[in-house]
Amino acid sequence: MTKRVLSGIRATGSLHLGNYLGAVKGMLALQDDPNYETLYMVADAHAITTPYDVENLRRFRREVIVDYLAAGLDPEKSIIFCQADIPEHFELAFYFSSVTTVGKMQHLPTFKEKVKQYPEHVTLALLNYPVLMSADILAYQAELVPVGVDQEPHLEVAREIARRMNQDYGTNFPEPQRFVTPGGYVPSLTGEGKMSKSVAGSFINLTDDLETIRKKVRSVPTATESGGDMSPGVKSLFTFLELLAPEKVEPFLVEYDAALLKYVELKDAVATAIYKEIEPLQAKRAEILAKPEYVDEVLRAGASKAQAIAKATNQDVRNKLGLK
Ligand code: TRP
Repeated sequence: MTKRVLSGIRATGSLHLGNYLGAVKGMLALQDDPNYETLYMVADAHAITTPYDVENLRRFRREVIVDYLAAGLDPEKSIIFCQADIPEHFELAFYFSSVTTVGKMQHLPTFKEKVKQYPEHVTLALLNYPVLMSADILAYQAELVPVGVDQEPHLEVAREIARRMNQDYGTNFPEPQRFVTPGGYVPSLTGEGKMSKSVAGSFINLTDDLETIRKKVRSVPTATESGGDMSPGVKSLFTFLELLAPEKVEPFLVEYDAALLKYVELKDAVATAIYKEIEPLQAKRAEILAKPEYVDEVLRAGASKAQAIAKATNQDVRNKLGLK
């Protein structure tokens, strides 16, 4: 029996190295595994839960799809689509909101963070964010969701909704689990926390050229002398090497321990390794950008496959809720 996998990335920018190593590589591995049926979307509607620019969103939702394709997501193997192309998600989210309490949503750490960040923009859509995400997943009865650990509270909401719906209305939703894929934690270039679109100076774009990458990596804060305890910046440089050029870790560590390490050499090795990893994607990206009709067709076919599944789910739910 194949298991259904669903994941998505918010359309708040084009993808960066953290998305690629932390999420997309795991998505790729699953797409090529015959044990899984994979659905990968762009969470474009989730992008309107915080202040945003309309033209940017229009651009980003497509850019993420182009990045997916450039990275190797394959419409022959995965259903690739934009969330807002499937309005069934919104319908299902409304049904789910009837088994979800306001109090519970207000206590989620992700909600509290956004309230702090945008105190003037505490909307119902923001409060409903986890409910829409639950609909994204459960519309397809997906059992596995490859996302970062920060998304665990949202998955807990999805499991609670599945249980409630099943108990109260006799639906048959699975309780989706977070799926830990290889790649994992990609540190920020600031030396603090993880690489993130919302932290300026923390990330490398998949479209950056070698010179830009070198400049960004050279700006990672490092202590002036090597040896002794590693500062967070130095640690993150070694993490990048482990992820991208593991054979280089040992020689640099030896130099570090002997207090002989020149940081600029470590940094340039990291920059070269990063560029080597993303250069093939840049070539593929250029090819895809030259064929906008191809992207249109991928989205059309993806939406049509996804919608067929989501429609059937909603028919059943409507029926069980007494709306039919
Ligand atoms: N909330 C996720 C994030 O910020 C994005 C997302 C939306 C998602 N819907 C999803 C992830 C469904 C997995 C499944 O990363």
